[in-house]
Amino acid sequence: MTLRFLSFSLLVLAGCSTPPAEPAAAAPSAAEAPAAVDAAPAVADAAPSTRGAEVFATNCAICHGAEGRGDGPGGVSLDPPAADLRGMRAAHLKGIPRRQIIEEGRPGTAMVGWKAILSPEDLDAVYTFVHEMKHGPGGGMGGMGANVDKPTLQRAQGAMMALGSSLKGELVSTMKEQGPEAALEVCSTSAQAMTAEVATEQGVTLGRSSLRLRNPANAGPAWVQGWLTMQGERKAEGVKPQVLSATRDDGVAVVRVIKPLPVEAPCLVCHGPDEGRAPSLSETLAQRYPSDAATGYALGDLRGAIWAEAVVK
Ligand code: HEC
Ligand code: HEC
Repeated sequence: MTLRFLSFSLLVLAGCSTPPAEPAAAAPSAAEAPAAVDAAPAVADAAPSTRGAEVFATNCAICHGAEGRGDGPGGVSLDPPAADLRGMRAAHLKGIPRRQIIEEGRPGTAMVGWKAILSPEDLDAVYTFVHEMKHGPGGGMGGMGANVDKPTLQRAQGAMMALGSSLKGELVSTMKEQGPEAALEVCSTSAQAMTAEVATEQGVTLGRSSLRLRNPANAGPAWVQGWLTMQGERKAEGVKPQVLSATRDDGVAVVRVIKPLPVEAPCLVCHGPDEGRAPSLSETLAQRYPSDAATGYALGDLRGAIWAEAVVK
């Protein structure tokens, strides 16, 4: 399978289902971003964590240090010193949201407000990056989006897209030509197989998962569960895809990508409230998935995520 990875705005990947969703609005190009950031286009198109790393390196590292330890060349001699963003928060900062400090600054210190300097997208990205520095993506699950091995990231994202589009392809045509029952049939018989096939082809581990599983086989690894648990049951709006470097328990370096899947209108046919679903469809679901927890969703809910993990070669 030939895939082109020149530009990676992560596409909206449907779950088991649906006509091709509108591609996610592309990240603003470097030219549009008002910030004093001279980013290469590849970076502007990258996932938020990567973008955040870039914004941080350009604007913040001078004081906070490349790794956020408060030891940047411009930061150590300041009074108060540039905060160590990885360690304990200083007593006088506790209780003040970091987001607020980044946006508004700290009057009387070298920490200026960045709201007027950075674009809203870059503010989001750098806030996420700083948050991950301290807590790790998903609350302590590994490294950051910085220094992610590009070829490995491309393999992981490519596999994710391939799974998304092959599932979609089959589903769309079946749904259109034969209706939801037949689509469900396709979904339940081929989702697992397609996942395995893409995984083998691309040399990555991947899947789709959720806090409320239809098929228990989709539980996913601990880091995926950790990410899902951290998000909790919520609306998908504001949930960002994440890219991270991590070292697995077996010592192997990997790149991980995870992307939220929102409930869109067509998903409701199979994941919406039980009332209103064709009885025959409900019956088939109950038969195939006796422990199905993936119903009762509303439009805009976070349904789960699609994820991939590729080993750094
Ligand atoms: C010119 C130096 C300088 C630059 C550049 C700078 N900061 Fe700061 N930053 C500081 C100082 C000094 C403090 C501590 C303020 C205090 O103690 O009241 C601080 C505090 C912070 C805090 C609060 C830490 C905490 O534990 O609550 C955050 C978050 C932060 N900076 C993020 C950033 C981000 C993100 C950027 C880049 C967009 C940035 N800073 C750029 C000097 C700087
Ligand atoms: C035609 C029915 C149907 C539609 C429409 C549908 N799904 Fe599913 N979905 C399923 C079935 C069946 C499974 C279980 C597949 C398997 O066995 O792996 C599933 C599984 C999933 C999973 C994997 C986690 C789990 O619970 O096992 C996710 C995530 C998911 N769907 C998201 C979506 C999203 C998002 C949409 C809309 C964009 C959608 N689905 C639309 C039938 C459907």
